[in-house]
Amino acid sequence: MPSHGSQESTEEITSWGESFESKQPQEVLAAAIERYAPKIVLACSFGAEDVVLVDMIHRINSSVPLFYLDTEFLFPETYTTRDRIIEHYQLKPAQVIQTKSLLTPEQQAGQYGEALWTREPDRCCQVRKVEPLTRVLKEFDAWVTGIRRDQAPTRANAKMIEWDERFQLVKVNPLAKWSWSDVWTYIKVYEVPYNSLHDQHYPSIGCTHCTKPVMPGEDPRSGRWQGSGKTECGLHKA
Ligand code: ADX
Repeated sequence: MPSHGSQESTEEITSWGESFESKQPQEVLAAAIERYAPKIVLACSFGAEDVVLVDMIHRINSSVPLFYLDTEFLFPETYTTRDRIIEHYQLKPAQVIQTKSLLTPEQQAGQYGEALWTREPDRCCQVRKVEPLTRVLKEFDAWVTGIRRDQAPTRANAKMIEWDERFQLVKVNPLAKWSWSDVWTYIKVYEVPYNSLHDQHYPSIGCTHCTKPVMPGEDPRSGRWQGSGKTECGLHKA
């Protein structure tokens, strides 16, 4: 049974979620928002997929909040995108939830040593992203993410709507079936503000220390945690 005050069983959610496999992202979002608002939130890194979702959500119900995991190692361009999105969609302060680690970068260095990300990237992601995510998700019954099946083998089985066993709430992935080119068509057609790093060979954008540009033809996610063998920060591990 979901622990967030909902009476639905995980089986009910799974079978309801399966009925959205052939639906468009906007239909998925509309149904999820109708069912879970005001306890639904967008996980927003201000990357290309997430700004598409901000736009889609805004057209359905402009009061749905977003949160961003502010690792304190985000690119200046990411903060600029945040500010442009707030301005463009006239988001209220309470709708933009900044979620930080319990440790400042200095405290982290004191506790684990300098440049933890070079030695133990998983621990760094745990401290700066996964623990804060766990905390913010406790306030909600459903979260919306921008993951797509073709981003990585680890995401190939993502459902449009599914039960998130790890974080114990409903996970909504409206763009699961979309391609990178679908995302960009939407951004261009609806003139959605996006992170300028995407124009500088950064298809996937995380923290400054662990994100590198990618050459055309390379795996778009190969710029993340380069050379470490790591492919997920832990938000979307099964
Ligand atoms: S990651 O797990 O490798 O960092 P990626 O950058 O592909 O993930 O983003 C996938 C989805 O995870 C995004 O569409 C967004 O929903 C969520 N996400 C990633 N980073 C953040 C962040 N800093 N704040 C909020 N949500 C995030």
